[in-house]
This record gives sequence, C-alpha cells and structure tokens, in this order.
Amino acid sequence: MSRLVFVLNGPNLNLLGKRQPHIYGHETLADVEADCRKTAASEGLEIRFHQSNREYEIIDWIHEAREIAAGIVINPAAFTHTSVAILDALSAYEGPVIEVHISNVHKREAFRHHSYVSLRADGVIAGLGTQGYTLALQRVARLIATKKT
Ligand code: DQA
Repeated sequence: MSRLVFVLNGPNLNLLGKRQPHIYGHETLADVEADCRKTAASEGLEIRFHQSNREYEIIDWIHEAREIAAGIVINPAAFTHTSVAILDALSAYEGPVIEVHISNVHKREAFRHHSYVSLRADGVIAGLGTQGYTLALQRVARLIATKKT
C-alpha cells in the first residue's frame, strides 16, 4: 500500500518567514518542508512537498495524488476562500485530506471564516503555526494505518 503523502501549499506561501511574520511566524517554507520530512520519516511516510501561486498547478497535483498518494495535507492559502475548483479536485480524491492553516483564520477577517476546502477535508488545523503541518502528517499516518480495505 502507498505511504506517499502530498503536502500542497497555495499562493504566497513561498514568502513564508518574510511575509507578515506577526501572523505567519519566522519559519520559511523550506523550514516547514524540513520539519515535514522529519515527521514523515518517523511515521514511515514518503512525502512530495509542493507550493504554487497558480490554482491549476495545485489542481494538477491533486489529480496526480489520485493515482499515487495515500493522503493529502493541504494549505490552500487564499484559494481556501475562493476555489470551487480545488474543492472539486479534492472531492475526486479518495484518501484522507487534512486542511492546514498556519494562522487562526477564525480570529481574522470574516472572509477567511469560510472554506470551500473544509467541505471535503477530513480534518482542519488552524492557528497552531507551522506545527499544524506535522500534526496533520501524523493524523494522515493514523488514518492510513486504520483504513479499512
Ligand atoms: C492561510 C490563511 C489564509 O486566509 C491566507 O490567505 C493565507 C494563509 C494560513 O496558513 O493561515 O495565505 O492559509
């Protein structure tokens, strides 16, 4: 059975560490990737870690995940609040999906309170900083292990 998990990041997350550090912290996306790789290794998972500012690339990765990945961790960033297309792509994916937000979106502007992706996600982590990613990976590992075939 596949132990491959896609970790997908949406727009502007390439600026993590430089962008609004009072909201998103000082860790860079490379730091997050390194943390995810450590957690994946200890959970016996393999990861593909991607970021894009383009909606279609994220959709294409979700389609690729349909063929080869056992789970998806996704921070869709601003596409969370706008993208029916990402929701539809995730709805065509059968494995566990965990949605991650570094900030507590519910403590912020009202437009961040609605997530299209949450209509599909099996779990949502918000406001735990970049630790949310590694917690999400641990959850995916658990869901894969307990999956009834
Ligand atoms: C975010 C929250 C979104 O509202 C925002 O557009 C982002 C990042 C987060 O990780 O807290 O770009 O997904």
